[in-house]
Amino acid sequence: MVTQPVLILSGPNLDLLGDREPEIYGPATLDDHVARAVARGAELGLTIDHIQSNSEAELVEAVHSARSTVAAIIINPAALTHYSWSLHDALAAFAGPVIELHLSNPAARESFRHQSVVAPVATGTIAGLGGHGYQLAVDAVAAMLT
Ligand code: DQA
Repeated sequence: MVTQPVLILSGPNLDLLGDREPEIYGPATLDDHVARAVARGAELGLTIDHIQSNSEAELVEAVHSARSTVAAIIINPAALTHYSWSLHDALAAFAGPVIELHLSNPAARESFRHQSVVAPVATGTIAGLGGHGYQLAVDAVAAMLT
């Protein structure tokens, strides 16, 4: 089977999932979420790579590299969602589908989370569905790439 490469990008503090505010983000770790996405991707003909960084610059560089190496991006930009215009611009230069993914529903939380600067350059957004969102994001990408 020919597989399509997909990149999952995880922003700052998501490496603490499982330990960080479990009442908001749940008990699962980032590895748990990524494993679920990778397994779903394998069923759908997607090869999924994952990069987590606490550095905005590293995430911007990862999007640049993705321009020539992957077919789609699934990104949980974490707090960068709300202010990173450099991530916005990098994603705007990526030609394939971009899914913005959040575990929680930022629209139902503090007002500073209500704006996403990534949303205008995302193909679509999945938010508030916890870890299930990872599987839904992979399903969405698979549907868009076929
Ligand atoms: C988050 C929501 C953001 O507002 C927050 O800064 C995060 C996680 C989420 O997945 O719900 O770090 O992106």
